[in-house]
Formats: sequence, C-alpha cells, structure tokens
Amino acid sequence: MAHELPEAARLRELLAFHAEAGVDAALGDSPADRFAESAAERATAPRPAGRPDTGPRPNAAARPPAQPPTPISRAAPPPAAALPGLQGAATGAPPPPDVATLEAREAAARAPTLEALKAIMERFDGCPLKATATQLVFSDGNPAARVMFVGEAPGRDEDIEGKPFVGRSGKLLDRMMAAIGLDRTSAYIANVVPWRPPGNRTPTPQETAICLPFIRRQIELADPDVLVCLGGPSAQTLLGIKEGITKARGRWFDYDTGSRTIPALASFHPAYLLRTPLGKRMAWRDFLAVSKALAQIPARPGRG
Ligand code: URA
Repeated sequence: MAHELPEAARLRELLAFHAEAGVDAALGDSPADRFAESAAERATAPRPAGRPDTGPRPNAAARPPAQPPTPISRAAPPPAAALPGLQGAATGAPPPPDVATLEAREAAARAPTLEALKAIMERFDGCPLKATATQLVFSDGNPAARVMFVGEAPGRDEDIEGKPFVGRSGKLLDRMMAAIGLDRTSAYIANVVPWRPPGNRTPTPQETAICLPFIRRQIELADPDVLVCLGGPSAQTLLGIKEGITKARGRWFDYDTGSRTIPALASFHPAYLLRTPLGKRMAWRDFLAVSKALAQIPARPGRG
C-alpha cells in the first residue's frame, strides 16, 4: 500500500528528482510560469509586420522588459501552420530545430568579426539551451593563435565563469597545452555548443545542428593554422566522421573553414582522460603531433 511521505521528505524527493533531471540551478528566487506569461503576452501584443508568429522565446521573460535587444531577424521561414511540430509555438516554445538551424546559418554568415559573432549569438534565441544556461560561453584564449581547440559543450564551471574549459578538464587541458609550450595566450578555445546543457547532459543532435553554423563561423573568423577536436562529439560534428574517438584520435583530417583548408586532429577529451588515465599516453602523442605540425607550417605575420 502506498504510504504518505511527510512534507519535508516529499520536498526532498522532489528536489532529488529535479536534480537528477538536470534542473540544478535556480533562475530566480520565486517560481514563475513563463509559459503562462508568454501566452498572456501573445494574446495582447500586436504582431510585428513581417515576422511570423512563432511565439516569444523561453528566455525572453528573463530579460528586462524595457528596451529588449533587437531580436535576430528570422530567415523567412515557412508559414507557421506548415511547420512540423509547431504545437509548441502557442506555449512560447523555441522555433522548430530546422527553422532555428536556418536562422543560425544566416545569422552566423552575417558576422564580419568574432566580436560581432559573439554579439549575434548573445541575441540568438533559437537554441533551447540558452533558456537554461547562465550565459553564453563563447571562447577563451587568443583569437589570433595558430591553434584552436574545440570541445563539446560547457559544464557547470564554464557556465558560471562564461569561459570554456575552466573546470577540472580545463585544468588538465592547460597542463597538456603547457607540455607542448602552449597556454591561453597562444591557443584559442571554444566549444561546438556554447550553452551548457542542463545537468551536463549530452547536447541533442538538434541542439548541435542549431549551434553548428556558429562554431563553423567562429573557426573561419579565428582562422587558425591547426584545429584540434577534443573528444568524439567535437570530431564527429566538425570533421563529419562516424567512428568513435578511440579509432579517430591521432588522425589528421582536412577541415574546410569556408575560406581555406587547414589540418585538423582528433584527440581525446580531457574529461575522458580524467576517467581513463591510460589514454594520456596517446593524448601526449597527439599533442606532440600538433606541436610538430605547428613547427612545419610557416607562421603568418600577426599570429600568436
Ligand atoms: N567540456 C567541454 O567540452 N567544454 C568545456 O568548456 C568544458 C568541459
């Protein structure tokens, strides 16, 4: 027979359930039903001309109501009614992934510089991860560096600090870079997905697809001589490979930045190396290969 839990125990159970589901950060002091607010806003607000009514984005309510930043203009998506899975529009859900991916592609292409790209991404509401993340985690290190490292997605520490690889795996990455004479003044660091997935879960394929145009443009604008994909998800997403990182690591691929082709190496993710120290020997070989490649590629003026 089911027995009633006392109130405190019931709340503890509920909290534990939320934590397990990845709801581990409070956005405000008191709960707010954003869906109800969105629906009420939609019912009263006049619809702007030329923009399809796909509903406000989930994090819009978290911004100050006055003078909201100009939203990223929509890329003439198909009419709302014709889009699959648009039931969420009436409840303030983000646009369907295919529409968001199109928007991301258009927005990313418009960025002439890394600063502009960062500003565009800060205003982009098409990725649902933005609603639960604390902030955009754009990059760290030197954008003029000759080598760029790309991981999967920020974790808790990165979400708090707004910089990639600052937690435990970041400390290991720093040590690995130091072993070949690199630090954050001579390397540029980013992630495929720039918003922390709740509870550090793996980004969904849809979330990754939405973010892909941004990281591709970021690589093109940073224009490194060598790209290093840290971990399977980064290598699979950027290099288009199917095999796991154990097979792919240590191999060089051609990466088309959109402006030129550069060598790209797949290597283990530092988080994997923290769990599997035996992999460090192979990672060391990969980093030596990066160092050798950098020595062989003539340095361009102004590149750190
Ligand atoms: N793991 C990643 O892939 N990126 C980070 O920034 C931190 C951990």
